[in-house]
Parts: sequence; C-alpha cells; structure tokens
Amino acid sequence: MSPSGGRFDGRVALVTGAGSGIGAACAARLAAEGACVGVLDVRAAGAKATAAAIRGRGGTATALTCDVSDEKQVVAAVAELLASYGRLDVVHSNAAALGRDVYGRDHHLETLDADVWDRTMAVNVRGAMLLVKHAAPRMADGGAFVLTSSVSGLTGDLDHAAYGTSKAALTGLVRYVATTYGARGIRCNAVAPALVLTDAARLALGPDRLADKEAERLLPWACAPEDVADLVAFLASEEARCITGQTVVIDCGTLAHRPEHALHQWRLAPP
Ligand SMILES: NC(=O)c1ccc[n+]([C@@H]2O[C@H](COP(=O)([O-])OP(=O)(O)OC[C@H]3O[C@@H](n4cnc5c(N)ncnc54)[C@H](O)[C@@H]3O)[C@@H](O)[C@H]2O)c1
Repeated sequence: MSPSGGRFDGRVALVTGAGSGIGAACAARLAAEGACVGVLDVRAAGAKATAAAIRGRGGTATALTCDVSDEKQVVAAVAELLASYGRLDVVHSNAAALGRDVYGRDHHLETLDADVWDRTMAVNVRGAMLLVKHAAPRMADGGAFVLTSSVSGLTGDLDHAAYGTSKAALTGLVRYVATTYGARGIRCNAVAPALVLTDAARLALGPDRLADKEAERLLPWACAPEDVADLVAFLASEEARCITGQTVVIDCGTLAHRPEHALHQWRLAPP
C-alpha cells in the first residue's frame, strides 16, 4: 500500500460516511493511492472498522466520530485530522441520512413528516456545507471537494422527495463552492450515482424496488461502491485539474433513455 508514485502520495483526505458502503470504498481507494485518510462517520464502530481495514493493508488512516450536521463536531473533526497529519487536500462529503428513521420514512409528499425533511436536509445538505465551510480555509495548497449526490437529485419520483431535493441542492452547492474557491485552486464536483449495490441500498429498497431499479440500467452489470470510488479518486486527482462545478452521473445508463423505451426493449428481448 501507499506505493510511491500514487496519485495521492503526501496528500491528506477526509471522507465522511466512510463507515460503510460507498464511503468505505472511497476511503480505501484514496489510501491505496497514497493518501492519509480521515475516516469519518457518526457510527464510531463503522469508522474504526474502515480505518483498521486500511491500516491492515498498509495504508494510513484515522477514525473520526462525528455527526456532520453538528457544526462543533465538524470543527473538532477537521482540527483532529489536521493535528494528526498537518494538512488537508481532499474532502469527500458522502454521508447521508439513509436509516429507517429518516430515508425509510421519506414517503409521499402529502404525508411527509416535516421532521424527516429537516433531518434529511441537516445531514445531506447542511453537513456538506459545514465541511466546506471549515475545511476549505485549511486547504493551504489548493485541493478538491467531491460531494456524493444521486440521480434522485436530477429526476422526480413518487417517494423520497426530501432525499431527492437534498441531492438536488448539492448540485447548487457544488457550483457555489467551485465559484467561491476556484481562484485559490480549490475544485468542487459531485458524483451522482443511480443504484449502487450497498447494504444500505438493499435494506432501504427491499427486493421488489431493487429489482425495478436494476431493470432501469442499460448495461448488463451493476454499479459497485468501487466503481464510484474510481470516479471520486479521478475527480479528486490532478488528472481532473480542469474540472470543477460539475455533477458527474455514474449510472450504467439509467438516465440515458426514456423509461418506456427500456420497457419496450425488455419486452422484445427479455434477458
Ligand atoms: N447506494 C446507492 O444506491 C446510492 C445511490 C445514489 C447515491 N448514494 C449516496 O451515496 C452515499 C453513501 O451511500 P451508501 O449506499 O454507501 O450508504 P451507507 O449507509 O453505507 O453510507 C452512509 C454512511 O453515512 C453515515 N452517516 C449517516 N448520517 C451521518 C451523519 N449525520 N454524520 C456522519 N455520518 C453519517 C452512516 O453511518 C453510513 O456509514 C450517500 O450520500 C447516498 O445518498 C447511494
């Protein structure tokens, strides 16, 4: 691990929501390419497990327990990371409220509990803003933010209006961050996945909804957390030095077609 010549050798990265799923894969990827990684999650056990797995493979990582919606905790987490490694170059804001208590109650707009809306916005949007607010001033040598959005922020649906609206807000935040910090050499982009096969997605959607979503993609393979990590690492790297303010869709073709055309194709040639 940490091979010389890695794209993030000598760099320090912070990944939120890194205790499982996409965030864990992204933290592992950045570490594999040489970064010292702050593995942040509201679940201490998850953060510790991801950090331990990285260290077990020879990488450098520290676990940070933090609720990204709490400004004091975000300030403390950024300070702890800086105290450990002395600099900050990459921030991947990936945490989202996906539990049964929030995403699991994000149903039809007419029956939506306003508390579900507020908590979704607090974690998914306010959390991303707080990270930028407290990390950007500490990036002394340029840097890159990557936010995890979703195709749910680019489309409408009959449920998950709070979640989808929170992800749409990130498209705006990306542009504001890119504009605010561009002159300092700090870039900001978002990744917008469709279905990624994580435990959280399987649990939140259930087998029927999962099968429906699987049927939406054009490619025969599904998107894994490691596929998102490839894109995040690219956007965070010098190879993407001319890309900022963008939301990049990674969806195996889910948004590239009209739904009825896909259904038609599946009827003509079932898999
Ligand atoms: N899995 C998918 O199909 C999919 C699709 C599109 C977008 N996304 C996005 O990808 C990201 C990761 O999703 P995932 O599927 O890996 O889910 P996940 O549940 O495995 O990861 C989310 C992590 O965020 C953490 N978290 C929740 N609230 C937090 C808070 N207040 N502070 C800090 N950490 C907190 C959780 O503990 C969890 O470890 C999310 O932003 C999600 O919206 C996922």
